[in-house]
Amino acid sequence: MAFSDSAQEPAAPYGGAASSPKRVRIRHFQQAKRDGVKIVGLTSYDFLSAGIFDRAGIDFLLVGDSAGNTVFGYDTTLPVTVDELIPLTRAVARAAKRALVIADLPFGSYETNPREAVHTAIRFMKETGAHAVKLEGGERSAEQIRHIVASGIPVMAHVGFTPQAEHGLGGHVIQGRGEAGAEQLLRDAKAVEAAGAFAVVLEMVPSESARAVTEALSIPTISVGAGPHCDGQLLVWTDWAGFTTGRIPRFVKQYAQIGRDLEEAANAFREDVASGAYPAPEHEYE
Ligand code: KIV
Repeated sequence: MAFSDSAQEPAAPYGGAASSPKRVRIRHFQQAKRDGVKIVGLTSYDFLSAGIFDRAGIDFLLVGDSAGNTVFGYDTTLPVTVDELIPLTRAVARAAKRALVIADLPFGSYETNPREAVHTAIRFMKETGAHAVKLEGGERSAEQIRHIVASGIPVMAHVGFTPQAEHGLGGHVIQGRGEAGAEQLLRDAKAVEAAGAFAVVLEMVPSESARAVTEALSIPTISVGAGPHCDGQLLVWTDWAGFTTGRIPRFVKQYAQIGRDLEEAANAFREDVASGAYPAPEHEYE
C-alpha cells in the first residue's frame, strides 16, 4: 500500500519522541479501499521477523494468538493468555517503524462484557506499543468493539472461521457457505462495521461470499483464505515462509522453505563440529 498523505502529518504534540512520519495509519486502510490498492499483512511474533517484514513494506503486522500454535506449541489458540502475548507484541512494536502493529485479544480476555474487553485492549495499548487490537466475532462481539473504539483504540474485527470458537463451530469448517451462511457472514461483517471496526478479517470463506461482503462494506476486508476479491491479504508468517511443520491450509502460498533450510543448516553444523571442520582458524581469537 502506498500512501498519498504521509507528508501531511503534523509533528507529534507535547514534545515526546516523534513516531515515524511514514507510519501506516488506519486512515490509510480506508484510502487503500477507496483507491483499489491492496493491503498486505503478515503475522509476526518477534523482533527480528518484524523488522524484516517492516523493511519489506508489509503494511500491518498482526501479533496473532496463532502464537499459541507457532510459538508456544499448543494444539489450538484457546490456552493463550494476555500475559503470553504482551512480550511478543512489545517486541514486534519495537521493530516496526512503518507497519501498523495489531495486537490480537486472546480467548477469555474480552467475551464476558465490554468492560473486560476495554480493559484488555487498554493493557495491550499501554504495555506493548501496538497501534490497534483485533478480536474475533461478528454480531456477538459488536458491543465489545463499540466500547473499545469509544475508548480511542482502533479495532480490526475477524469473522468467518474464528479459531477461538473452533469447538463451537465443529472444527476447522469453512464458513459463509450456502445462502444462510453467506447471509450470516454479511450480517456479522455489517455488525462490526456499524460498531466502528476499521477493517475486518474474513477467514476461510468462499470467494464469492467474501466478494459480496467486500462490495457491501465501506471498511476494507482482509482475506485469510477468503479469495482474491478482498481489499487485502493476510497470512500466518510461519506457514507462508515454510517454517511450519505438517499440513498447511489450502489457501497458503509458501514463499520460502525456512524450515527445510534451518534443518539442513543444523545438520551441517552438527557434522562440522563432529568432524572438526568448525571452528576453523578464521573463527578463532589470537
Ligand atoms: O491469530 C492469528 O494469526 C489470526 C489470523 C490468522 C487472522 O487471527
